[in-house]
Amino acid sequence: MGIILKTWQIKIKSTPNTLKILSVVGARPNFMKIAPFIRAIENYNRHQASGIRLQVEHVLVHTGQHYDVRMSEAFFTELNIPDPDINLEIGSGSHAEQLGNTMIAFEKVLIEHKPDWVVVVGDVNATLACSVTAKRMNIKVCHIEAGLRSGDMSMPEEINRLVTDRISDLLLTPDTISSANLRREGTPDHKIAFVGNIMIDTLEANRERAYALKLGDIINNNLSQGYNFRGITPVDNSYAVMTLHRPSNVDEEQVFVPIIEFLLNEVTKDFTLIWPIHPRAKKQLMAFGLWERVLENKSMVLLEPVGYHEMQRLNMGAKIMLTDSGGLQEECCVLGTPCLTMRWNTERPVTLRENGGASVLVGNNIERIREEYRRTISLERKPSRPELWDGKTAERCLQAILER
Ligand code: UD1
Repeated sequence: MGIILKTWQIKIKSTPNTLKILSVVGARPNFMKIAPFIRAIENYNRHQASGIRLQVEHVLVHTGQHYDVRMSEAFFTELNIPDPDINLEIGSGSHAEQLGNTMIAFEKVLIEHKPDWVVVVGDVNATLACSVTAKRMNIKVCHIEAGLRSGDMSMPEEINRLVTDRISDLLLTPDTISSANLRREGTPDHKIAFVGNIMIDTLEANRERAYALKLGDIINNNLSQGYNFRGITPVDNSYAVMTLHRPSNVDEEQVFVPIIEFLLNEVTKDFTLIWPIHPRAKKQLMAFGLWERVLENKSMVLLEPVGYHEMQRLNMGAKIMLTDSGGLQEECCVLGTPCLTMRWNTERPVTLRENGGASVLVGNNIERIREEYRRTISLERKPSRPELWDGKTAERCLQAILER
C-alpha cells in the first residue's frame, strides 16, 4: 500500500494537471446537493489514481448561514459530508448583512485558495454572494440547479437564481424546462448542460436507510421544546406532514393565522399532523400568540427540524404533504406523495400534477387550500421520475466541469 501511495504522489507532483474546485454551502437545502458532488469527486480521484491524468483538489466552504446543529451539522454527519475546510460563520441577519458579510469573507478565501472553479448550488444567499465574488475575481463559476424560474421577483431566491445564472460560466440544469428558460434569456448553448436533479442522487442513496426508521422513534427523538406528545403514534398512510418557512406564509399575521386555524379546525380532524417546525415559523407562532394553541391540539405533533433520513421516512408514509419547500416538492414527486404546494407559483413546474408530478399549487388562500386538500386526500401515492432524475446527476456535473 505504501509503495502504491508513493508512486501516486510522484505522479501528482510531476503533473501540472490538478484542477482545484471550491464548493460552497450555506443553508440546509444545500447540504443534500453537495453531498453527492463531493462523493463524485472522491470516486473520480480514486479511479484516476491508477493512471492519473487530472486530479481534482476540493475545498468545501460553509458560509454559516444555517448554524444550529439541527439545521446544519446533523446533515454533515448523516450524509457523510466531510467537515467544511472553512466556515465563514456569517449567521443570521438581514439579507444585505448576510450577502455583504459573505462576500467580504469569501473574497479572502478566494485570494488564499485561488481555485480554478467555484461551484455553487441552489438559490440561497450563499449562492448569490459567492458566485458574484468569484466572478469579480475572474474565477469560473458553475451553478448546479441552474435555470429554475418562478417568475416571482418578490422571492429572494428568484433574485439569487437570476443573478447567479446570468454570470455563471457553466449552468447545470435539473430538467429541460430549466434549460429552455436559460436559452430564452439568451444564455449561449455551450454554457448549458442538462444533468438531472442532484437532490435525487441523495434520495436514492439514502432510501433504504430512511425506510428502516420507525415513526415512533422519529417522533420521540424530535419533540419540539416545551411540547408534550400525548397522542398515539400514527401508522403509515394515516398522517399528514407539513413544513412551512417562506416569509410569504409565516411572516404576516393575516396570512399565517388563517392557515393555523385551517390546520386546527380541519386537517387535524382528519389526520394526525406531523409538523417539523422551521425556526422562522416557530418564532412567528410565538409572536402571533399561536404557540399555546398548537401545543394544546392533540392531533398536532410538533417537532424540531428533523434530520434528512427522518424527513424522507415521514414523507414515505404520509397520506398528504403540505409544504412551501422546493426540495420537498421534488421528493414528493419521486416518492409519489400527494402534495399541496403552499405557494402561488413554483420554479419547479416539472413536479406539478399537470406535468406528471405529485403536487398542486394552492397558494395561501384558505378556500383554495381547502378545495385541493379535499380532492388530494382521496388520491393514491403515485411515484414519477422526470428525465435524468436517476441518482447519477453528480457524476454528470463533475464530467461537465472536467470537459471544460
Ligand atoms: C433559507 C433560504 C431558503 C431556504 C431555507 C431553508 C435564503 C434567501 N433563503 O431561508 O431559500 O429554503 O433557508 O431553511 O437564503 N435560524 C435559526 N437557526 C439557524 C438558521 C436560522 O434559528 O441555524 C433562524 C434565524 O433566526 C433566522 C431565521 O431562522 O432569522 C431564518 O433563517 P435565514 O437563514 O435568514 O433564512 P431561511 O428562512 O432559513
